Amino acid sequence: MDPIGQLCETIGEAKLRSMVAAFYRRVREDDLIGRLYPPEDWEGAEKRLADFIVYRFGGPPVYLQERGHPMLRARHMPFPIGGAERDRWMALMMQAMDEVEIPADTSPVVNSFFAQVAEAMRNRSS
Ligand code: HEM
Repeated sequence: MDPIGQLCETIGEAKLRSMVAAFYRRVREDDLIGRLYPPEDWEGAEKRLADFIVYRFGGPPVYLQERGHPMLRARHMPFPIGGAERDRWMALMMQAMDEVEIPADTSPVVNSFFAQVAEAMRNRSS
């Protein structure tokens, strides 16, 4: 059984979407990673991440239907992501998880999933 694939059912799609909204409220204001995102399409960026998380956590596969195979590493190549950017992304997501109260018994799985993907997105050695 894939514990990640159960998370949408356990946490609920609405809470996952609120978590991503809370995350982007922080990203927009962030001095380090905020400037990497398309300033004219914050709504689109929020929807893509939320759809991806919902799909990856076992919910409706809207992301796959609209964006196809995630190819996340390739899609992050245009953005310089080193250790500092990875750590900031994680810190803002941890704050968003706290804000919407992701249940304590699921947060270790959610956390390690994000940490693993964030490390994989690193495309600069710094
Ligand atoms: C390590 C730090 C990270 C940085 C600086 C970063 C930055 C970005 C940026 C600038 C975009 C383009 C926004 C857009 O969609 O228009 C993006 C897209 C995206 N990111 Fe990240 N990201 C990071 C980590 C992650 C992680 C950990 C995940 C998933 C758990 C993720 C999932 C996505 C997804 C699904 C998209 C949209 C891909 C698409 O369909 O085009 N990112 N990211």
